[in-house]
Order: sequence, then structure tokens, then C-alpha cells
Amino acid sequence: MTDAAPVVLLLSGCNLNLLGEREPEIYGTATLADHVAAFVDELGAAGTVEHVQSNHEGVLIDAIHGARGRCAALVINPGAFTHYAWGLHDALAAFSGPIVELHLSNPHRREAWRHTSVVSPVATGIIGGFGDHGYRLAARAIKELLA
Ligand code: DQA
Repeated sequence: MTDAAPVVLLLSGCNLNLLGEREPEIYGTATLADHVAAFVDELGAAGTVEHVQSNHEGVLIDAIHGARGRCAALVINPGAFTHYAWGLHDALAAFSGPIVELHLSNPHRREAWRHTSVVSPVATGIIGGFGDHGYRLAARAIKELLA
């Protein structure tokens, strides 16, 4: 019998439920379901994915608390929470596995208020600006980190 695959928590923050419809010139036309499917496909047997999307910071915080001691790694595209949600920062600081911060766009090429991330100081690494490739790249990073 083989050991169960590690559980990887994939978190999607505010407004990401609108991907595919929302500002397609910035975020593309793929839906969040498409991105999650790409992530699951790329991770393959290396992990079991749990995905939570919420427009409410507290729901994401609860999911992070629930991942402590249970999930091996975490990938988060916090949406605009990236730029101000210190509660999310503190919850992530209490998670002991690798954390990948993920963005479809490159926030540093955009408005100045997007240049600050309160998530980056508690992330293992950051993937941003690769559009539709981002979720696959994040899965590859997680595979390397868990190998
Ligand atoms: C985003 C970038 C954020 O600045 C923005 O608020 C989002 C999406 C991205 O994936 O590029 O909602 O996280």
C-alpha cells in the first residue's frame, strides 16, 4: 500500500470567481474552474488539491487554520487581499509548509497600490505575470518543494 498523497490547499481570494468575465484584457478568458483544473492536472499524483474561493477574508483565514498540521503546502492567489489583508498575513505565518503566492498579472507593472504585498513576507516564493501558465507553474513549484 502506498502512502496517501499530500494535501495541497489552493486558495482564491476576492473577485477571482469572476475570472473569464472580469477585465479579460488583464486576466484572460479562462475561468477559475479552468485554472483549478490546470493546477490539478499539473500536480498529478504529487498531491490532492482542495480549493477554496471566497470574497471574504475570514473564510480564507478559517481555511488556512484548517490546513495547519493537515495540508503539506499552500498556494494562494489572494486577489486584492494581497495588498492590505494583514489578517491573512498572520494566518499564513502560522502555517508551517511551503506557501506560493500566485498572480495571473504582474502587480509590479500595474498601479502603485498593487506594488505592496502583505503576503510576500510570509510566502516561500511568488509567481506572477505569466497569465494562463501561472497555475501550472505554481503546481510545478509545489511538486519541487514537496519532492
Ligand atoms: C491578482 C492581482 C491583484 O492585484 C488583483 O487585485 C486581483 C488579481 C492577479 O491574479 O493578477 O484581483 O491577484
